[in-house]
Amino acid sequence: MSKGTFSITTPIYYVNAAPHLGTAYTTVGADTLARYKRMDGYDVAFVTGMDEHGQKVADTAAKKGMSPQAWCDSMEPAFRGVWDLLDISYTDFVRTTQASQARSVQKFWSELHDKGWLYKGSYEGWYCVHEETYYAEGDLLKNDEGELVCPDCKRPVQRAAGEENWFFKLSEMQEPLLEFYEEHPDFIQPVTRRNEIVNFVEGGLKDLSISRSTFDWGVPLPFDEGHVAYVWADALLAYPTGIGYADPQRQAEFDAHWPYQYHFVGKDITRFHCVIWPAMLLACGMPTPDHVFGHGFLLTKGEKMSKSKGNGVMPQDLVKVFGVDAYRYYFMSDVQFGHDGNISMERMVQVYNADLANTWGNLVSRVYNMTGRYFEGRVPAAPAGAEENPLADLASGLYERYDACMDKVDFTGAAAAVQELAGVANHYVEDSAPWNLAKDPAKVEELAAVIYNALEACRIIALFLAPFMPRTSDEAWRRLGLGKASERTDLQDASRWGQLPAGNPVEKGEPLFPRLDLDAIDLNLE
Ligand code: MSP
Repeated sequence: MSKGTFSITTPIYYVNAAPHLGTAYTTVGADTLARYKRMDGYDVAFVTGMDEHGQKVADTAAKKGMSPQAWCDSMEPAFRGVWDLLDISYTDFVRTTQASQARSVQKFWSELHDKGWLYKGSYEGWYCVHEETYYAEGDLLKNDEGELVCPDCKRPVQRAAGEENWFFKLSEMQEPLLEFYEEHPDFIQPVTRRNEIVNFVEGGLKDLSISRSTFDWGVPLPFDEGHVAYVWADALLAYPTGIGYADPQRQAEFDAHWPYQYHFVGKDITRFHCVIWPAMLLACGMPTPDHVFGHGFLLTKGEKMSKSKGNGVMPQDLVKVFGVDAYRYYFMSDVQFGHDGNISMERMVQVYNADLANTWGNLVSRVYNMTGRYFEGRVPAAPAGAEENPLADLASGLYERYDACMDKVDFTGAAAAVQELAGVANHYVEDSAPWNLAKDPAKVEELAAVIYNALEACRIIALFLAPFMPRTSDEAWRRLGLGKASERTDLQDASRWGQLPAGNPVEKGEPLFPRLDLDAIDLNLE
């Protein structure tokens, strides 16, 4: 039976570049939580997509000698391809150029217009095309040439003087927002980012320009066709679009899935999600999302990774070396979600060999092999009393520990809790020395208990690792004669000790994670 709905998004990504390690990080994080919730019995909506409007995309298209639409169309396979490669289980992929998105944008801003939240004015200030963001003069920096540059990306800004724009009365939302943060203390996550946002809002809010009139690559506003929605006034509405807002045929889906439990975003765009987004929704009278989680940046040698600083290494390159599952596992377990984290090839190989090749993969190989050798490749019957053993004890508290970590979006902690069981199971096998028990016919029951317990631990470990590594978990289950671990929707029940059926065929198979040698890898992230 379903536990209810769970809805989560990634940002919708700009299409000026193909997905890279940074965007893949957000996406794999959201997928890991989506997969966990699905396995835990929730009906999950998981929305991602592409942010296609705005000057930056139009400029990129022009440089390629293509129309903006043709350029965006050409990028869709690049995004979907990488997400498929990484086993991203999204339920909708929203392109801001699709018809249903135009309907959402038009419906939403018309409502705010009708409710008196918008006015037409003239904008005096600065615009950064790269960030697609407006800045007041006082917020800008100067570069070595004395030019005014964007405080975020340090690129020169454009003067947007006297441009006629529609404005949203964001300044009037200061008090309601502060009350909202007070009433929803866990809206902004991790809590370390909360103060930053609250201080910002306490400092006063300026009205927000929500349209452009000097530019036409966007959704026209129905109450003033000469204006297109400003990129963020368009992009944020991809979230409701992805679950059927403004689509009468998807009304039930929208009602079931709105509001979202989580928007996963990088810390650079938390302000848009923690200030502007709830302000828009409060003004419209729509329920607000439960949490915005602002994760940290991937760093190489202490600096934010970007295409130029990552030596152009793309997700596909790393997948070729490590495989999809180890890729996902490394980023989720080793880069604490919510903090900045250094990544390097050394560390990737180290984590791979320690956790996957030597611990989890090794456990599966040796236990499945011994089942072949001592029990003709069949799960032995567990003798009476076999459930009293250190593995069963550890496994019995695992769901609660794991769930508590997932509830805080602590992927590192959740992965470590499962790895602990794998480590203990390896020691258990070592200490029990089945190879000695096998020499003594009087100890066949004891041998059966050891092998059964170790196999049962493998079954349970695979289940909990499935949100991180669906493929290898499914393979570990297949070799135990079981269906797909990643498709279970009853994690808590399925992870209770003692369910591996005696007599199931056990297949030895190749190592799940063959050891890797750093010197033999021809990729450098720095
Ligand atoms: N289009 C907007 C989002 C609109 S959502 C309504 C956008 N797009 S983006 O393509 O620039 O996506 C950026 C996402 O990738 C952000 O969440 C950002 O934090 C993340 N990353 C980009 N580089 C990163 C790292 N080096 N490390 C981790 N994530 C970073 O912003």
